[in-house]
Amino acid sequence: MALVIQGQCIDVKDGICTTSCPVDCIYEGERMFYIHPTECIECGMCESICPVDAIRYEDELDAGNAIFARINREVFLNDAGEMDEPGGWSRAMTPRRDHPDLPVRPRLLEQAI
Ligand code: F3S
Repeated sequence: MALVIQGQCIDVKDGICTTSCPVDCIYEGERMFYIHPTECIECGMCESICPVDAIRYEDELDAGNAIFARINREVFLNDAGEMDEPGGWSRAMTPRRDHPDLPVRPRLLEQAI
C-alpha cells in the first residue's frame, strides 16, 4: 500500500520528504508534491519527516483526505490514461501540472473562517 501526500502539503511544499525517499518517488507539482503509487516501495521513511504531517499510508487516510489517494494516483496518468513511470524525481524536472481536483487555496479559506 503506497504512501499518499495529503492536502497539508498544498502551498507549503517543504520538500524535506524528498531527501528521505530511497527511490525518489516523490514528485513536485505546482502547489504540492505527489507520491508515485507504483514507484513507491512503501518503506515509510517520508511519513515521519514531514513538518506538517501530510504523509500517510493509503489505508490510514481519514475520510476527509481519502480523495488524495486518487489525486496522487491520477496525477501520474498520461493523456492515454496510462501510468507514467518517470523513474525517479530530480530537482531539474519541471513541476508536474497539478491534479484538477486539488482544493482551492485551503489555507486562505481556513484563515477566512
Ligand atoms: Fe509536502 Fe511535507 Fe513533503 S509539506 S513536500 S509532504 S515534507
